[in-house]
Amino acid sequence: MTSSDMDYLTIALPKGKLFAPSAEMLAKVGCTAEDLSENSRKLVITNEKEKLHFIITKTADLPTYIEYGAADIGIIGKDVLLEEEKDLYELLDLRFGLCRMMVAVPEALKREKLSDYAHMRVATKYPRIAESFFHSMGIQMEFIKLNGSIELAPMVGLAEIIVDLVETGRTLKANNLLEVATIQPVTARFIANRVSFKLKFDRINRITEELRTLLEGVVIP
Ligand code: PRP
Repeated sequence: MTSSDMDYLTIALPKGKLFAPSAEMLAKVGCTAEDLSENSRKLVITNEKEKLHFIITKTADLPTYIEYGAADIGIIGKDVLLEEEKDLYELLDLRFGLCRMMVAVPEALKREKLSDYAHMRVATKYPRIAESFFHSMGIQMEFIKLNGSIELAPMVGLAEIIVDLVETGRTLKANNLLEVATIQPVTARFIANRVSFKLKFDRINRITEELRTLLEGVVIP
């Protein structure tokens, strides 16, 4: 199975919070498969009738599958696109999965201005986004890349500051962290491989337009 098979369209979906709403939205435009489940042991799930393959990937890896054409289209958060900087088309803002990238510090470390944190250590899953944000503010920091549970870092002295996603704010609150700057809002995006977009234009364009129609009138909460 490769996406160079012109008869099939390969769709990449990310594991985690975006999986269910992504699968649900694609199902509404006719892209689904009987055994499509995040917990499937099968890594490629096929709908023979509709000539669709689904692959389920680790979130951070999804843009790589798209960039190399291992999948034709997919859904992923803008956070991952900004961090991974892959060469692909971002076709639509799907307006779900809303959260924001932000800077937070332990309550006890709160300072007046962002520049008062200069030269401190920033723990993050998103070093590129974090570096670019502090660089744009002219503030030099030290960055420590982690793969998850970022809120732990300031509690155990690994870093003073974190850059992370916040959705409800519950994790920050539970760990006595305060948001001190918002970097940018983040939502799910519909993306495509550049070559697939040309070679499989009719199919991809039809799905894009149907998704666009679904989104009409949807306002980000
Ligand atoms: C994300 C994010 C925060 C949390 C924010 O983590 O990194 O930790 O969700 O959500 P909240 O504002 O609703 O509390 P995720 O659950 O994806 O796991 P991770 O910490 O392993 O990245």
